[in-house]
Amino acid sequence: MSGFHDDILMLPGPTQIPGRVLQALARPPVNHRSQAFYDLWPSLRDRARRVFQTTGDVFVLSGSGVGGLEAALVNVLSPGDRVLALVNGLFSQLFAELAEIFGARVRRLEFGWGEPVPPAAVADALEADADFRAVLLCHNETSTGVTSDAEAIGRLVAETPAVLLVDAVSSLGGIDLRADQWGLDVVVTASQKALMTPAGLALVSMGPKAWAAEREAATPRYFWSFRRMRDRMGRQPPGIAYTPAVNLWYGLHEALAMILDEGLEARFERHRALGRAVRRAAEALGCRVMAAESHASATVTALYPPSGIDPSEIVRRLDRGFGIQVGGGLGPLAGKIFRVGHMGVLGAREVLGLVSALEMVLHSLGARFEPGVATALAQRELVPVGAAMVDQSAPVMEEGGV
Ligand SMILES: Cc1ncc(COP(=O)(O)O)c(C=O)c1O
Repeated sequence: MSGFHDDILMLPGPTQIPGRVLQALARPPVNHRSQAFYDLWPSLRDRARRVFQTTGDVFVLSGSGVGGLEAALVNVLSPGDRVLALVNGLFSQLFAELAEIFGARVRRLEFGWGEPVPPAAVADALEADADFRAVLLCHNETSTGVTSDAEAIGRLVAETPAVLLVDAVSSLGGIDLRADQWGLDVVVTASQKALMTPAGLALVSMGPKAWAAEREAATPRYFWSFRRMRDRMGRQPPGIAYTPAVNLWYGLHEALAMILDEGLEARFERHRALGRAVRRAAEALGCRVMAAESHASATVTALYPPSGIDPSEIVRRLDRGFGIQVGGGLGPLAGKIFRVGHMGVLGAREVLGLVSALEMVLHSLGARFEPGVATALAQRELVPVGAAMVDQSAPVMEEGGV
């Protein structure tokens, strides 16, 4: 806690909430068994489908990202099913552990932390063993700032009977991910990252192959049952199996409108530019980017500090001195790295602020570098998107009575 009232969240989540979304959240409660709420659902679902790039089902659950991962697993697996888990960091490791907790027999294919999942290794594993019920992939490893090639892995898994479950918690809405076109049977994300909404919602898409697996999945489920949700929501009037987080739904509805207003491709390009700006600047300040450039994430950057400097001191000084919140290392990377989130509504203004603040912090900690170079390098990357600040001031979109 810096004591600042207006901290800038440059964490790998939660992220900044735009004014438009705050405005949409701050409404009196709405009866979830009223026409107003029945009108919200199809509109929210259609916007979510466009952001997931799917024509299939998308469910909005009360829960965080881990809740969404658990929901994905219990809806398609039975105890004893064989699962191939692609592990290259803390969150992919967690996904594998969750599957095990629900009784799956998990084979872990492990890769270095900081490396992407190599599609060729997945191809070999699937060829050697045709008996997997599911494959688990973390698209964007938030612990290391690495994005894996979900398209190539999707193509491989599509050739097999297995369903591909993708953790897109820190990528969806910031990095291109095409559920239908790439054969990603189940995609999971959460509200508090690139979707610019407070924590509390998980979103999960289900394609046709996932529904076929669902019919045979014997893991007990009630709260997370997608079948129950689909049945209730398909009724007239639509119902919800439990009381939804109504205000968060309104906030998410507005955030999805902002994403679609910006345009998916423009948004992905803005995120790529922010990532490049952070990486070039951090390198100029003597930090080392964990990810190779070819797989560096557009939403989060994991950085080793200049030698001899404690990353937790960087995190602390950015917080105390500037009200800028960045993340530390997780698991075995605690005390070794720090992580900068650059997703959602963040733009050139925040990234340039961070770069200057980081320069001052590193200087105060004894790092040596050419002053001003980091900012110049960041500016160069930001020029093409500098004017593309996300419009936060537009009124809440009125559509279909919502
Ligand atoms: C890739 C990834 N998966 C899962 C999670 C867990 O999400 P949550 O903290 O919302 O449960 C996170 C959170 O940072 C994440 O980055």
